[in-house]
Amino acid sequence: IINLFPNFVTLIVETNPLTYMRDLTITAIIKVYQYDELNEADRALVTTAKEATARSYVPYSHFSVGAAALLGDGTVVSGTNQENAAYPSGTCAERTTLFYANARYPKSAVLMLAIAAQSGDGFTEIPAAPCGACRQVILETETRFDTPMRILLYGRKCVYAVDSIKDLLPLYFGKSDLEK
Ligand code: THU
Repeated sequence: IINLFPNFVTLIVETNPLTYMRDLTITAIIKVYQYDELNEADRALVTTAKEATARSYVPYSHFSVGAAALLGDGTVVSGTNQENAAYPSGTCAERTTLFYANARYPKSAVLMLAIAAQSGDGFTEIPAAPCGACRQVILETETRFDTPMRILLYGRKCVYAVDSIKDLLPLYFGKSDLEK
């Protein structure tokens, strides 16, 4: 092999660990709380998200997700996942909530978003994290109002908190990429 394809073999052997310049390390800080450690404002929004799960429409997955958003003017709105027989036509709780908030209160930033989810066994032990599409929509809302959104993910065992969606969406694509 070496005699037939000397360059090819050399290329693989010699450059394999060196085929890129460097690692780009993106760090995210996700704070992990016990529910009791949350401050009053956080706890109130988590409670609203938990209560919202009862209003989900989930005949297919039976996975009830609730979200609650605190707006800049103090308004709280909540939403749930809304499923559809044509599965992709359904929407997650986070997007239902943010699209409603932005449609109803287009001038209010979203300061905080709490999310809770229930499977058949009640609230999930470990927090359910927003899906990729919802992360992208959360990013758009942050960008739109130039305001980072604190995000609380509720689980029975612990609550995850981040101060911006950027901690959950490394190397994101956003509005500024279109301006490059
Ligand atoms: N779901 C949400 O509402 N939010 C998420 O972040 C993850 C998934 C919903 C979509 C669907 O109705 C069900 O959970 C199962 O995927």
